[in-house]
Amino acid sequence: MKRILIIGASRGIGHAMASEFVTRGWHVTGTVRGSAETPLHALRANHPKAVEIASIDINEPTQIAALHDRLKDRRYDILLVNAGTANANQNETIAETTTEEFTRVMITNALSPMRVVEALADLVTPEGTISVMSSGQGSIAGNTRGGHEVYRGSKAALNQYMRSYAIREGETRAMLLIAPGWIQTELGGMDARYTLAESAPKLVDLLLSQEGKPGLRYEDRDGRTVMW
Ligand SMILES: NC(=O)c1ccc[n+]([C@@H]2O[C@H](COP(=O)([O-])OP(=O)(O)OC[C@H]3O[C@@H](n4cnc5c(N)ncnc54)[C@H](OP(=O)(O)O)[C@@H]3O)[C@@H](O)[C@H]2O)c1
Repeated sequence: MKRILIIGASRGIGHAMASEFVTRGWHVTGTVRGSAETPLHALRANHPKAVEIASIDINEPTQIAALHDRLKDRRYDILLVNAGTANANQNETIAETTTEEFTRVMITNALSPMRVVEALADLVTPEGTISVMSSGQGSIAGNTRGGHEVYRGSKAALNQYMRSYAIREGETRAMLLIAPGWIQTELGGMDARYTLAESAPKLVDLLLSQEGKPGLRYEDRDGRTVMW
């Protein structure tokens, strides 16, 4: 049985991908924050042998270490760091954002995902894939319309840090930054172009297509390279 570890699988894209992986016969370890019931708990209730739930707030370094300790004897075919956030008022400019909100978004979207990658990479098999949920909005070359300034900056920073990580690690294994498209979730809003139901199979196909291809790629939901 193939195994994936999804960080941030309580709801939204992470949960939808967890569900799709289970449908395809994979074992999923998915993470939630806190103790509240989530859609991932419902998935586990329906597939108790295929779904395991762990807990982590990626912004708490001690929780990253604790998660590694809990999973240290496991090996995964894929690590997907999906957890992310946006600033409450997406229309504000970078200079209008409070320092607190800027800090929260940058830590959650750029710093913490990299801490998770660094800490959990040894749980992934050498042939496995390390992936992080970025966004098309993280593309500097693709920013022709502006807007969403804080969020864009956080995902651009994430992309840059992932490139540095990949170079430092020698690009010996498959790594992927995902631009999933605009999807109907709490973060994406209900006006988004794509549903979760149509997106999850495509995003799972995208992840599976990376197997055995060393090096870092930045790709959209159709497997097209996104300009950095
Ligand atoms: N939806 C889109 O259109 C879109 C487009 C491009 C990229 N993305 C990216 O896709 C990813 C998932 O977004 P989504 O649309 O599914 O959003 P969502 O429905 O708001 O879900 C966000 C997920 O991230 C988790 N999370 C947030 N902060 C966390 C933290 N500090 N520690 C651990 N988990 C945390 C949430 O857990 P809780 O349930 O505990 O809050 C939840 O599982 C994000 O990285 C987002 O930037 C989304």
